[in-house]
Parts: sequence; C-alpha cells; structure tokens
Amino acid sequence: MTKILTGLQPSGTLHLGNLLGSILPWHGLVNKEVDPEAYLMIVDQHSITVKQDPESLKKQIYELAATLLASGVDYKKHIVFAQSQNPDHAYVGWMFQCLTPMSWLDKMTQFKDKKTKFESYKEAVGTGLYTYPALMAADILLYDVDTVPVGSDQKQHVELTCNIANRFNSQYGQTFKTPRFETSEEATRIYDLQNPTKKMSKSDRDDAGRISLTDPVDVIRKKIMRAVTDNDSLVAFDQVNKPGVSNLLAIFAAVTNRSHDDLVTEYGTQGYGTFKSAVADAVIAYLEPFQLRMNEFLNDKDQMRMILDEGATRANEVSHPKTLEAAAKMGLYVHE
Ligand code: TYM
Repeated sequence: MTKILTGLQPSGTLHLGNLLGSILPWHGLVNKEVDPEAYLMIVDQHSITVKQDPESLKKQIYELAATLLASGVDYKKHIVFAQSQNPDHAYVGWMFQCLTPMSWLDKMTQFKDKKTKFESYKEAVGTGLYTYPALMAADILLYDVDTVPVGSDQKQHVELTCNIANRFNSQYGQTFKTPRFETSEEATRIYDLQNPTKKMSKSDRDDAGRISLTDPVDVIRKKIMRAVTDNDSLVAFDQVNKPGVSNLLAIFAAVTNRSHDDLVTEYGTQGYGTFKSAVADAVIAYLEPFQLRMNEFLNDKDQMRMILDEGATRANEVSHPKTLEAAAKMGLYVHE
C-alpha cells in the first residue's frame, strides 16, 4: 500500500499556489494509486512559528479545512486532520530537534528568507522558525510515508527529513522510512503576480501579487490583468527572460489541464491583453465552483469538527506505536 502525505499551514491567506502546488498534486498521486493510504494535514503548530492572532488562526484552520474538503477529498477513506490534535508530532518533533545538528538547519533557505522578511516587519523571530524542519520531519516520518507531494519550495525540508531519518536509524536502529519528494511538473511553483521571480506567498502583507482562494471574481480578474509581464508581446514559456508571462502560462496550464505548448500555440501572437483575459476567465471558471463548495463546508462547522476529530483519532492510531518505538530506542521513559 502506498502512503501519501502532505501538510499546509493555516496561517496567512491560502492562495492559488497552495492549491496548484500541493493540494492538486496530492489528489493526482492519490488517484494514480490502486489502494493508497493518504493523509492531508493542517499544520497549525507550524503556523505559530510566527506570531498569530489567536482568533484569526482559529478561523483560518476552518478555512483550510473547508478548502481541503472542497477540493474533493474522500474524508471517509483518507485521513484529514489537524497536527495539534495529535500530540505525537510535537513529541517526536522535540526528539528530532535534539538529533538535528544546527549546521543542517543553518542551510535552510526558507528560514533565511522568512527571517529577513519578519525582521523587515520589525517582528522578533522565534526559535521555532529555526527548528521547524524537525517538526516537519516528525509529521512525515511518523506515518512511514512513501511520497510527499509539495511545492518545490519545500524540497529542502523533505531532503532534511530523509537525513534526519537516516541519522536516527544509524544511531538507534532501523525505525523510520525515508520518503520521496514529489512535485508536479507544470505547477511546481506559482510566482507572485507583481514580482514574478518570487514565489506567491501567504505571508506577504501586500496581496496584489497573490490570488487568494477567497478573492471575489472581479478582484481575481483585476489582479491578473495587472500582472507584471515584459515589454515584448510574445506569449512564450521562458522563465529567465519572461518570468511574468511564464508564470501566467503555468497557472493557465494548471487550471485547464492543458500543456504550455498547447497554450503557446493558441495565444503566442495574440498579445498580452487577450492572453491575460483568457487566463482570468480560466482561473475564475476554475475557482468559482470551488468557492461555492468551500462556503458549504464553512457553513457547517459541526460537520468539519467531526471530520477533523475522526481524522486525528485515526492518525494517532498509526503514529502512536511509532512514537513509542522511537522514544524507547532513544531511552525515554515509555511503556511500549
Ligand atoms: P505551506 O503551508 O507554506 O504551503 C503549503 C503547500 O503549498 C506549496 N506552495 C506553493 N506551491 C506552488 N507555488 C507557490 N507559490 C507555493 N507556495 C506554497 C508548498 O510547497 C506546500 O506544499 N512546511 C510546509 C508545511 C508542512 C508539510 C509537512 C508539508 C508541514 N509539515 C509535512 C508536507 C509534509 C509549509 O510551510 O507549507
């Protein structure tokens, strides 16, 4: 049986990059397998690595749950849950913090980027932001996962997870399985519409470059029509010389399931105005029904609570024996 797991933070505003970079690839992998065991996780303990307003965080957890459910996950079959409802993550995350050399964490580019960003907002950077990859390793390794579908910005963290697994196994005996990183070809990374060499981000204060999953259709259209392109007028996929146009092509391809080549053949010489308008139509056609489904879930919080409670119980049934095994091997006081 193939095990597939991914996680998303409920902090900030969920955007098209999150959907195309990780939720859809998760579905793609799950649908490809004959008998998958699949996990979709709301990683709220990762969100508190930077300061959150408690009420907003709670609201965003429901919004993320509604987003995951609206994407069509079969929650009776697969496991949808919130990280903080399964205490094994933080427990093993601590063991991994102790095991992980600081020199490994020093190499994490996401930490460096986020540190710079939050310092520019004059916010203190907490220790958790630095040690966060150890918690992410626990998220993955607790479940003996085969594949982790994520956007390319998380590749380094998945590689670190493999290093942590190998280090634990070599010091304490074979315990954890190393997972495979998986990212979809066409939508590997969605960039900021205003600054197309930077990834679309949940935590940017300015949202002109981000298509939020909850943006009204007129806002989506406006953001796409104002997306930064270049002085040329040729629609072509060239991430170095035409990052803005390439980003719009990647988005267009992902929401329509068409290839870049196919879209370039159709729109190559039609000019940017026509092209952008077609991208906006396609994104809206894709997101509008999605938003309706999201709202149906948001209007039924009891149902969402039941789904998440049930998911956490099932997740814990899998993770707990692994937690006890690892803790005992490290010499902690546990009854196996
Ligand atoms: P997070 O919450 O920042 O992002 C969730 C997922 O969305 C992907 N993503 C993008 N993909 C394409 N273009 C973008 N602009 C873009 N922005 C974000 C991310 O790669 C990710 O797949 N550390 C993780 C969460 C995590 C996790 C895990 C993931 C915690 N534990 C275990 C997998 C397995 C994170 O912060 O993702």
